[in-house]
Amino acid sequence: MRIDIVSLFPEFFDAFFSHSIIKRAIEAERLSMGVINPRDFSHNKHGQVDDTPYGGGAGMLMMAPPIFEAVESVIAQYDSETNSAYSTDEMCDEMSLIGNPSESIRRRIIFMGPTGQPFTQEKARELAMYDQIVLICGHYEGVDYRVEEHLVDETISIGDYVLTGGELPAMVVADAVARMIPGVLGAASGAQEDSFYEPLLECPQYTKPPEFRGWAVPDVLRSGHHKNIATWRQKEALKRTRLLRPDLLERPLTKEEVKLLKEIIAEESERNTGEV
Ligand code: ADE
Repeated sequence: MRIDIVSLFPEFFDAFFSHSIIKRAIEAERLSMGVINPRDFSHNKHGQVDDTPYGGGAGMLMMAPPIFEAVESVIAQYDSETNSAYSTDEMCDEMSLIGNPSESIRRRIIFMGPTGQPFTQEKARELAMYDQIVLICGHYEGVDYRVEEHLVDETISIGDYVLTGGELPAMVVADAVARMIPGVLGAASGAQEDSFYEPLLECPQYTKPPEFRGWAVPDVLRSGHHKNIATWRQKEALKRTRLLRPDLLERPLTKEEVKLLKEIIAEESERNTGEV
């Protein structure tokens, strides 16, 4: 998969590309990433990419042409690389793919902005299935609306707050998407146990030492009894979800979940009666 980021501040991403999950995904050749600067597509010798809004008002808006051209350039780059990969691959004799790879390429152009649809785990999983995603970071007081109207497939927000630019949101999206690419996390089960992969919060986890300042790791986790451990984990995940995010339980529950929830409620009312 390829993720291209369109940003006026490419240097923001240096540390991001060279650490953690993104670095591993790139090294494992599951992911390739790049940042393109719309300033390189400025139509003006001063590298200007913003201008005052029509109709008046404070602040500057990013202009549409440099953004369109930056996006078109990463699309063309991806298409030509894919094309040459197909042409040199002796195994691939499907002529339709050789002449025009765009038709078979799954691509999504996304604008990062607070007016977009909220970003979720579900969306991360969906985006991980594309061949190429392009994340456009806005800046200044906004962006000429023709970008959202005529260039992008969707706008994504990472939360109900306004940041100074789309760079942090683009990193959030790229990180969450990268971990959903098959093979990136190594053990396939890694992502599945994450909060929100299953629509439950993660259960509590512990590591050494077994006792710290008088707080012991629950016995069951040290018992080596895999079935009991799995049940304990599921029950704790349900307890936590019920307490912190009850909205996540407003869905059809599995039989096991119903059984465990009944136990949780019974134990809770026993505790409450005991306290009275
Ligand atoms: N750009 C500025 N604020 C943002 C937000 N909350 N989500 C996505 N992009 C943004």
